[in-house]
Amino acid sequence: MIIPSSHKVKEGELEGKVILVTGANRGFGLAMTMDLSKAGATVIMLGRDLGSLEYAYDAVVDKGFQEPTLYPLDIEGATPENYQSLQDDIFNQFEKLDGLIHNAAILGTMMPVDQHDIKLWYSTLQINLNGPFMLTQFLIPLLNKSDDARILFLSAEQGREAKAYWGAYGVSKFAVEGFAKTLSEELEKTNIRVNTLDPGVMRTEMRRAAYPAEDTTKNPSPESKSPAIVYLMLPVSSKYNGKQLALTD
Ligand SMILES: NC(=O)c1ccc[n+]([C@@H]2O[C@H](COP(=O)([O-])OP(=O)(O)OC[C@H]3O[C@@H](n4cnc5c(N)ncnc54)[C@H](OP(=O)(O)O)[C@@H]3O)[C@@H](O)[C@H]2O)c1
Repeated sequence: MIIPSSHKVKEGELEGKVILVTGANRGFGLAMTMDLSKAGATVIMLGRDLGSLEYAYDAVVDKGFQEPTLYPLDIEGATPENYQSLQDDIFNQFEKLDGLIHNAAILGTMMPVDQHDIKLWYSTLQINLNGPFMLTQFLIPLLNKSDDARILFLSAEQGREAKAYWGAYGVSKFAVEGFAKTLSEELEKTNIRVNTLDPGVMRTEMRRAAYPAEDTTKNPSPESKSPAIVYLMLPVSSKYNGKQLALTD
């Protein structure tokens, strides 16, 4: 299902909302953090590198948007105890969570399966699938305290149609699609709506790594797509549940 990326972000339209974004320090994660903060949401910026998180925090605050909070955590090595601490910290500070956006991911390597680096296969599935599973499990109790909550998984076309050489990345996105659908059914009678989103091509590090020979200047910027994330957090988007959403380029 195609949704518009043309939403015009209005200041205050997400006031009072608390939304956690993974991989918020750069790329699409930073672009959506900017727009969510502009719309008045308090963004919990989760990332593995404190230095670039602080840099990104300054960029949001310098614009005069809603002040975010930082949560340094490496999804690859995070344990259930780490996620319990995150749950406790969010509860103590906000008592609820309105949005959980699983944006962080790695490309891993583009290799045929018979040559795929085994360690990198495990790392890719840990960051792109197993970490998001644990994060979701520990944050559902807080999302249940919101009167209108969202869980959004960033997916990709390689998670909807299998393509040679996309290895663990493609497999992880297929798994994310299945995980999100399962969750959307389990949570159907709650206030939590669960969807996946293929944002389409964006001019980020991941795209550059996947297509090193491409002229990236022609690709849409992540900032041109991030208003759609605000739209998906608004009450009007509670009509979407268990959907495979996509943005136009
Ligand atoms: N770009 C595209 O064309 C495109 C197309 C379809 C789908 N997507 C999806 O969109 C999402 C964002 O992609 P992007 O293009 O913005 O990618 P990106 O530029 O490579 O950024 C990835 C983000 O994930 C974070 N991350 C990676 N491993 C992590 C870990 N172990 N713990 C915590 N954070 C970690 C990175 O943090 P560091 O800075 O620390 O590495 C970075 O913030 C991904 O889910 C991707 O699959 C992108």
